[in-house]
Amino acid sequence: MSDQKGFVVWMTGLSGSGKSTIAMAMIPKLKARGVNFERLDGDVVRASLTRDLGFTKEDRAMNIERVTFVAKLLSRNNVGCICSFISPYQSVRDSVRSQVTNFIEVYVNAPLEVCEDRDVKGMYKLAREGKIKNFTGISDPFEAPENADVEIKTDGMTVDESAEQLIKYLEENGYIPTLA
Ligand code: ADX
Repeated sequence: MSDQKGFVVWMTGLSGSGKSTIAMAMIPKLKARGVNFERLDGDVVRASLTRDLGFTKEDRAMNIERVTFVAKLLSRNNVGCICSFISPYQSVRDSVRSQVTNFIEVYVNAPLEVCEDRDVKGMYKLAREGKIKNFTGISDPFEAPENADVEIKTDGMTVDESAEQLIKYLEENGYIPTLA
């Protein structure tokens, strides 16, 4: 029997803000604490569960709707979910909150200039050239969370510091055990 609680760490932020990187950095830390968890990531999910969807407002909402279904089942069965999706609309994020167990809205906040400068996938350049349509921050909106449970300012922080900030939040709120 496990006394673990389900939870959904929901990382929202611009492309290149650090969501997936922080999620990856959390993996060994959660494993070290014996936490049962699953990682749900935009790029991964969009290559499988939601590969038929694009980036219109409707498709983004549908993307998150399907992910929410998965996160709902996992979190109510005491599994921790580490989710990283741009999820640019507050109403959509509020809908996730209303459906899953222990939703934690995490604003992974890096200024657009910083994300564009990083341009990890070369997509900002293509978006500026008009070769990618509806690109978040360039030609599509991003509604920053107004009342995020956690805000991580990745500009000027190491990846490990960002991951630790989240781990500390989960520990302090009793979602995961502290290291023995
Ligand atoms: S969301 O808006 O529906 O939440 P999601 O996080 O799943 O987006 O996917 C974002 C990823 O899709 C980005 O990291 C990027 O690699 C890719 N992508 C492709 N086209 C776009 C676009 N127009 N806007 C944003 N991201 C895009």
